[in-house]
Amino acid sequence: MIQPGNYVRDLLRHAPGDHVTARGWVKTRRDGKNVHFIQLNDGSSPTDLQVVVDPGVAPADLIARVTTGACLSVDGELVASPGKGQAVELKAHSLLVHGGANPEEYPLQKKKHNLETLRPLGHLRGRTNTFAAVFRVRNALSRAIHRFFQERGFLYVHAPLISSSDAEGAGSMFQVTTLDIGKPPDFERDFFGKRTYLTVSGQLEAEIFALAFANVYTFGPTFRAENSNTPRHLAEFYMIEPEMAFCDLHDNQDLAEAFLKSQVEQVLNDCRPDLEFLSKWYDAELFHNLENLLQSSFERITYTEAVALLEKADRNWEFPVSWGSDLQSEHERYLTEEYFKKPLIVTDYPKEIKAFYMRANDDGRTVAAMDVLVPRIGEIIGGSQREERHDVLLERIREHADRGMKEEAYWWYLELRRFGGVEHAGFGMGFERMMMYLTGMKNIRDVIPFPRTPGNAEF
Ligand code: 4AD
Ligand code: MG
Repeated sequence: MIQPGNYVRDLLRHAPGDHVTARGWVKTRRDGKNVHFIQLNDGSSPTDLQVVVDPGVAPADLIARVTTGACLSVDGELVASPGKGQAVELKAHSLLVHGGANPEEYPLQKKKHNLETLRPLGHLRGRTNTFAAVFRVRNALSRAIHRFFQERGFLYVHAPLISSSDAEGAGSMFQVTTLDIGKPPDFERDFFGKRTYLTVSGQLEAEIFALAFANVYTFGPTFRAENSNTPRHLAEFYMIEPEMAFCDLHDNQDLAEAFLKSQVEQVLNDCRPDLEFLSKWYDAELFHNLENLLQSSFERITYTEAVALLEKADRNWEFPVSWGSDLQSEHERYLTEEYFKKPLIVTDYPKEIKAFYMRANDDGRTVAAMDVLVPRIGEIIGGSQREERHDVLLERIREHADRGMKEEAYWWYLELRRFGGVEHAGFGMGFERMMMYLTGMKNIRDVIPFPRTPGNAEF
């Protein structure tokens, strides 16, 4: 295997004179007079390592197998490169082709492929410059998120993926069963002795932990069976859900703002060459948008104020706006992109359009909800202060009985309000929405390794 210090990224920084082995996949081969140039990459770097091969080192039949996509090991000496773009290149002493890639058949030839064409090539697209950059950013973003919370003393919780409760009460869950699907279901005989689903959110379990560890976060996959075939929805996506005891909606908003800024700052530091590549090919405004997020203090308005602004806007909305209706993507984007031109937090939504666990406000018609909206994406974070009053929560759950909520199923959630309860709050950030924001990619299918969408579960 490749040892630390021997990735292409590291070899490019070595001093001339070092003897090394480089391994990776061929981007391209060019043949000059009496010399061959190979661009080699192992996914660690946006810059390829240039390998220079004299015909004496590799006979013609071996060189013929060195085509785009082939896998190689090359022993040689790093020498100062006369070419621009790299300080050193590898002068080959010997070369081994592990696996060829027939150019008649290999689908990734040297040219710009469009992203849609690459989607059915999930097994190969990570070798393109674009997806290599995207997935390096994804790795750096994961690290940035853990670093943000770990530095603040938050405990990382693994919430279960198989769940018997519908946290969001939205009823868009995938069922988990070992029963024969042909037969009428008897869920008592099912694997878990009751009906189970893939989780839509780890929040309710995070709340359990917040009432033992004060500040916690989850970071894991969540699943939604909503049939929304949009560039912003996946059936399987990653969510980060911090949950904090002794926290109200104001602190929650402050944390969300600091969290988004920290991610942008860290990824700008860790992945600048990748972001430059992505900006050049996909979004000329990328750095401007990222800097704008870092420098602006997020606007904060209530849902009621948002509706007033939307009603005043001189627009023909596809979805009409009035107090009580949920904000649609077009409304969210108008507010953040056009009206405020910066990130925006909308709070205190009508209780009818939000989940059962959000804390009831004194006005009797709104709850302590917050959505963070950013330009180009719309909603990137959804959160709230939680209802910590046992009787109020019980009432809310009962109100939801007609939507299939069963009081018995939430016995432990209610009990948390009887044993050492405290005001608490949290939020969920869609990891892939943040990836879209950071990379400038316009379709969520292009920022996750293997997208799951209606009709699509290949790889
Ligand atoms: O607003 P949501 O539904 O909130 C929750 O699930 C809460 N339990 C979070 C919490 O308070 N702990 O989802 C949170 C975020 C959204 O703002 C969005 O960024 C993302 O998750 N999201 C999706 N991302 C991709 N595909 C989907 N189908 C998504 N649904 C939500
Ligand atoms: Mg939401």
